[in-house]
Amino acid sequence: MSILEVKHIEKHFGATQVLNDISFTLEEGQAISIIGSSGSGKTTLLRCLNFLEKPDGGSISVRGETLFDAADPKTQLESEIRKKRLHFGLVFQNFNLFPQYTALQNVTLARELLSKERGGETKEQIETAGRELLAQMGLADRAGHYPHQLSGGQQQRVAIARALALHPDILCFDEPTSALDPELTGEVLRVIRNLAEQKTTMIIVTHEMAFARDVADQVIFMDGGVIVEQGDPHQVIDHPREERTRQFLSHYAEN
Ligand SMILES: Nc1ncnc2c1ncn2[C@@H]1O[C@H](COP(=O)(O)OP(=O)(O)OP(=O)(O)O)[C@@H](O)[C@H]1O
Ligand SMILES: [Mg+2]
Repeated sequence: MSILEVKHIEKHFGATQVLNDISFTLEEGQAISIIGSSGSGKTTLLRCLNFLEKPDGGSISVRGETLFDAADPKTQLESEIRKKRLHFGLVFQNFNLFPQYTALQNVTLARELLSKERGGETKEQIETAGRELLAQMGLADRAGHYPHQLSGGQQQRVAIARALALHPDILCFDEPTSALDPELTGEVLRVIRNLAEQKTTMIIVTHEMAFARDVADQVIFMDGGVIVEQGDPHQVIDHPREERTRQFLSHYAEN
């Protein structure tokens, strides 16, 4: 069974159709890269998967459980959405850390709140886990720093640790390096590569074509709200079948 099954997702904003019949599956331990030009619907798709937007059509299942089905109102109860969101982690382009909290607090906050609601872990256990995650991101010595005391690359690595703290089934990245200069981009891409090597299930929207190809098991090229081409990373990026994919990739030709 696939860990994620996305079927026939549709999304309109007013009269504009932003996602049109989007379907794909993701296997546990694998990564999908999503590439495509600005406005092609990549962020909207991630927002639908994270229940930040409600699709107008289609369904989303995780581990065989239907989390959302546009045809089934029972899957759309507001009261259930927070719980469903926990299946997914989302790392944003602009980090979105809480400025008033330290790196460690950013990582532990959600898990502490969850633990208060449901019982389970002690504050100490959560902090230990948080420090381990920061260490895994190469930030063991930055736990007490506030976001404004960290570089963009460090902030993004805190954001990745924060997303991992809730043990999502699927970790989603929305252009995780596009706010960073090349030097800092490298350190964030390295962390994501390590996560891929550890078989973290991921969906990565990125403009880094070589990275998209090398880190993923599957690449999706989107244009105008549809999946134009999807498949093996080397096939899609090095030998695209579709003219639209070729056109898009020609803008990234190495120079
Ligand atoms: N809340 C909204 N209301 C109306 N239109 C929206 C909204 N959010 C996105 N759109 C439109 O949907 C389309 C897809 O946007 P989206 O942000 O998903 O594209 P993207 O592929 O992530 O682009 P980029 O590479 O620039 O981030 C765009 O035409 C955008 O203007
Ligand atoms: Mg976007």
